[in-house]
Amino acid sequence: MAVFASGGGSNLQALIDQFNHAQRGVRVTLVLSDREDAGALRRARAAQIDASVITVAGRPPDYVARETLAALESGDVDLIALAGYLRLVPPAVVGRYRGRIVNIHPALLPAFGGKGMYGMRVHEAVLASGSTVSGATVHHVDEQYDDGRIIAQWPVPVLTDDTPAGLAARVLEVEHILYPAAIEILARALVNEETAVARDRVAAACFLKVPQPAPTEAELREALGLND
Ligand code: GRF
Repeated sequence: MAVFASGGGSNLQALIDQFNHAQRGVRVTLVLSDREDAGALRRARAAQIDASVITVAGRPPDYVARETLAALESGDVDLIALAGYLRLVPPAVVGRYRGRIVNIHPALLPAFGGKGMYGMRVHEAVLASGSTVSGATVHHVDEQYDDGRIIAQWPVPVLTDDTPAGLAARVLEVEHILYPAAIEILARALVNEETAVARDRVAAACFLKVPQPAPTEAELREALGLND
């Protein structure tokens, strides 16, 4: 699996911790970033994972697409996970990896998503709306921001005296558990070609069995049948 990240990379770290020290059928083998100073690059190098910068700003989209596809091909990548990647993935890359490229978003899509909805802005908008619930969403990636089919969601209650930073921290805690689990289900489904079944298992577990305020890793794995 390749991970695309622009920022600190705590979700990347969760994926490395979950997959690169265990035999779970999927491993992070390549990290790509659009920013030289991304903390995610340091985390990748510390874990001895190939890491490269593909600059997007001010470059023709065709170049970016070609470089990205070349990196993915030479790394023999089957699956792509976006983890705090702030750029639109070039359509040629989405086309090549359709159904095998996913993202995590720190709110319950389709609310509070789309262009410009990233980082603290998401949590500020949730609080400003008066919503009593936010959460994390794992979804397929298509040619638009935060638009592809939803794979998994986990709600996080909004507290009466919540702050954007407090809500962000509680959502992030859930992201670190939900993202690896959803990816493991997807990876198994891609191998077994049971995508619909896997999607239903994720949906059932995430919507019907909701340990609040946040699931433990053990609870989520149990609910998804990943311990079988
Ligand atoms: C996460 O909140 C994720 O949902 C969003 O960007 C943030 C990335 O955080 N897409 P990190 O770099 O993984 O810590």
